[in-house]
Amino acid sequence: MVPPRGHVRAVTDGARVTLRAAAKLTLSLRVTGVRDDGYHLLDAEMVTLDVADEVRVEPGASGITTSGPFAAGVPTGPDNLVARALVATGRLAGVHLVKHIPGGGGLGGGSADAAAILRWAGVRDLALAASIGSDVPFCLVGGRARVRGIGEDVEPLEPVELAFTLVVPPLAVSTPAVYRRWDELGGPTADGPNDLEPAALDVEPRLAGWRDRITALAGRSPVLAGSGATWFVPGRRDDALAPLRAEGAVVVVAATGTD
Ligand code: C5P
Repeated sequence: MVPPRGHVRAVTDGARVTLRAAAKLTLSLRVTGVRDDGYHLLDAEMVTLDVADEVRVEPGASGITTSGPFAAGVPTGPDNLVARALVATGRLAGVHLVKHIPGGGGLGGGSADAAAILRWAGVRDLALAASIGSDVPFCLVGGRARVRGIGEDVEPLEPVELAFTLVVPPLAVSTPAVYRRWDELGGPTADGPNDLEPAALDVEPRLAGWRDRITALAGRSPVLAGSGATWFVPGRRDDALAPLRAEGAVVVVAATGTD
């Protein structure tokens, strides 16, 4: 039967599957311009990490449920990027997310889950991925890449084997607020690798306290991951940075991964 115009026929068949949805880290980010619609043009390097959510898909069911160490606070309604990926691909399925990627820190947990759904649905369209969220195209491609446009232009790069220690402070930094502040500040460029750092520090001044604690413990200043709130230093520095757990931060050692 031909579906009515304007409707996508939902696909409900298929087998139950468990997908891997890997976190990403933005190693560097330059803002190169602003589009007419207010979105910012980027030139960024992103890598996939070996920290991953599990995405269990049950065709024929519905609803999003969560479990795992970082399930708290994950939305399970239409705001979840998985729900948007299902709508965008015309699929109906129940999805259970086992959250191993810390949330709210800019590590792309929601984007990775959505990208896993796109992969499962056989969708490789990066423009469609970008319509779900700017980090979804990179998560769909994975590995290591130069990312331009507003996130939809993903140029794969040779993989590198690197390890990082990530500190996710107990702060939420709003990505739109950081981009807005970047505009208000007149488009600052950073001394370090991330142009969004001055704007993020302005939006959430407590980030500076975390930066200074990390600098004191690790003996080097960290880099902010995208719009934050995650700070990272190269190398396996869990011993040095473990005391920050008692202050409410999540401290994770992660290596580059493949997808
Ligand atoms: O696409 P995503 O949901 O990650 O973006 C959140 C918000 O961040 C957007 O609504 C936009 O205000 C801002 N943004 C931007 N330029 C980008 C990515 C995001 O201005 N390249």
